[in-house]
Amino acid sequence: MTAPYVPTPRDVAVEMLRLANVRPGEVVVDPGAGECGIITLAVTVFNAVGIGIEINPALVRSCMEAFEKLKLKGRAYIVWGDLFDFNYSIADVVTLYLGSDINEKLRPKLERELRRGARVVSHDFEVPGWHATRSIVINGPFREHRVYLYVI
Ligand SMILES: C[S@@+](CC[C@H](N)C(=O)[O-])C[C@H]1O[C@@H](n2cnc3c(N)ncnc32)[C@H](O)[C@@H]1O
Repeated sequence: MTAPYVPTPRDVAVEMLRLANVRPGEVVVDPGAGECGIITLAVTVFNAVGIGIEINPALVRSCMEAFEKLKLKGRAYIVWGDLFDFNYSIADVVTLYLGSDINEKLRPKLERELRRGARVVSHDFEVPGWHATRSIVINGPFREHRVYLYVI
């Protein structure tokens, strides 16, 4: 089960992190991180610690280059691997832009591993079986984007 690489636009990513109320020092995890746009923002704008998980090695390399360019060593990390193999218990916030089918498959793992009070924000796709605490609509450059917030 996989999802193609389509980046979340910067403005939408900022609103996702704002909706999740990311605080300095919190750990933000982006499973299926692409080129790590969300992780980079979480670290540089919200002062969080960011961890991306990405299966595509070319995108992993882009993340590493971005972290190096922005001098994010020690604050931003990329894991090359399958998002279903990661243990999410470290996360305060999880950001998703994957698809309903992957969200549904990931849900029981997140339920097992995330601590109480952790937040999940999902771009465009709901997590089937969960009820969003809030959802917002953001006007992007080309279309409207919906973001769902879940509090564990
Ligand atoms: C729609 S993109 C989202 C990128 C980024 N999270 C963002 O919002 O800008 C989905 C990403 O998930 C990655 N991906 C898909 N299946 C994966 C898996 N099983 N494990 C790790 N990464 C995966 C894809 O390579 C792609 O980069």
